[in-house]
Amino acid sequence: MKRNAKTKAGKPAKLERNVIIADASEADIEAVREIYAHHVLNGLASFEEEAPSLGEMRARRAQVAQQGLPYLVAKLDGRVVGYAHAAPYRARSAYRFSIENSVYVRDGMAGFGIGGALLDRLIARCEKGKWRQMVAIIGDSGNEGSIALHRSRGFCKVGTLRAVGFKQGRWVDSVLMQRELGAGSASLPRSTESEEGKVS
Ligand SMILES: CC(C)(COP(=O)(O)OP(=O)(O)OC[C@H]1O[C@@H](n2cnc3c(N)ncnc32)[C@H](O)[C@@H]1OP(=O)(O)O)[C@@H](O)C(=O)NCCC(=O)NCCS
Repeated sequence: MKRNAKTKAGKPAKLERNVIIADASEADIEAVREIYAHHVLNGLASFEEEAPSLGEMRARRAQVAQQGLPYLVAKLDGRVVGYAHAAPYRARSAYRFSIENSVYVRDGMAGFGIGGALLDRLIARCEKGKWRQMVAIIGDSGNEGSIALHRSRGFCKVGTLRAVGFKQGRWVDSVLMQRELGAGSASLPRSTESEEGKVS
């Protein structure tokens, strides 16, 4: 993704002070869909190949909310310029303390600190809940922006799945990065949390 104008120090000018991060409302999802559709159709970060409908995006947000997980938007002068949310990492019950994150910035707005501001807030919100690990599944080992974003927020690269995707006429890797939330694996969950979501 193209980055933006740099300051004299060589880093892009940061906008994050003017950016407001808030919980996404139903009305924000149209802009969220537009942002995501661009990346689905033009990039390799997502392994979806067809842009989801507005109804589908609304249903996905509702599912996130149902899990008690955050779905955030970044707004600049009232316009949605990025979004981030968490979702269960995998459905089987033993994964219940692990979540996956998604973060997308509007085309043309990369490199201004928006993705970082979103991810910082997302991590902080998830650390207030029961979750202990956050996983980033990054489409394309050449996705320097996403890899740098996650590294800057304490994620470590744990592996690369080679050529598991085929998109835009070529094989695409998945890069796996991971970060502990709160106490991570240093302590056990509270007993009520341990039982929650367990299928007998
Ligand atoms: C990845 C993405 C969300 C990053 O958001 P962003 O607003 O551009 O990121 P920021 O400007 O907040 O930068 C965050 C950090 O990553 C670094 N970074 C961002 N893009 C970079 C790039 N292309 N190359 C090197 N470093 C980069 C920044 O220097 C910054 O580090 P710092 O906070 O230590 O200064 C955005 O580029 C995007 O939407 N990309 C396309 C979709 C995508 O890949 N989403 C992730 C799916 S896993």
